[in-house]
Amino acid sequence: MCNRPARSAPLHPEAPVTPCTELDPPEQDLLQSHELELTRRHFLAASSVVSAGLAVGISPAAAQRTSASAQANMVPITLTINKQQRTLTIDTRTSLLDLLREHLDLTGSKKGCDHGQCGACTVLLDGRRVNSCLTLAVAAQGAEITTIEGLGTPDNLSPAQSAFLAHDGFQCGYCTPGQICSATALADEVQHGELSQVSFETGHTQHPGSPAGSPAGVEHPDLTDDEIRERMSGNICRCGAYPNIVAAVRQLTRNGGRA
Ligand code: FES
Ligand code: FES
Repeated sequence: MCNRPARSAPLHPEAPVTPCTELDPPEQDLLQSHELELTRRHFLAASSVVSAGLAVGISPAAAQRTSASAQANMVPITLTINKQQRTLTIDTRTSLLDLLREHLDLTGSKKGCDHGQCGACTVLLDGRRVNSCLTLAVAAQGAEITTIEGLGTPDNLSPAQSAFLAHDGFQCGYCTPGQICSATALADEVQHGELSQVSFETGHTQHPGSPAGSPAGVEHPDLTDDEIRERMSGNICRCGAYPNIVAAVRQLTRNGGRA
């Protein structure tokens, strides 16, 4: 039994307490609130559609034109994602990130800022790291995309995945797919002797010896922790797992991108 005063009861300390029998037993209470929720949700959905139409004054003809112009934005694209060729028809305004997450259910790549500032959406496009939130899917026509799902499997981790695991390079894990894709490309960049700003600042523009497995004749920068931080600076970790991320990338690059 509920002892709340009836709504119409006066708000006075001496006011009689009227049992609200309509809300008892609790199951009925739950059922009614659920029904109320459904009704309200349907009402809100229906009324928002109606009021949106009224607010912008869309006539059936205008709605038809809008739908025709939306159709005009649809284009077919073919790209290879995690070694699998995919052909889709998409809106030209679709970002690569939305294509992966919303159209292909590859939700490993995360949407952090959607503005190119956090790196959570990093994937490899023809082996180079890109922010997929800033890349139009149509611009990736014919490209080879690798996402975290394509780097390794639970039974066969990629070298970067193993290094992050070995060094506990994550906490909540939200930024981790982007960090690992970025580290994978970073190892490849180092393999090919690509320098960074810090390489010049520290004078470490050459590696005294080639990391294992590097192509003959290619000189490598000596990757200091400062360089690792700079090269990974496009990937933000809100948990602050940076020391372990640096340790993971250090291991990865010292092993020449191998586990
Ligand atoms: S979601 Fe792409 S950089 Fe943040
Ligand atoms: S591990 Fe949580 S955001 Fe990086």
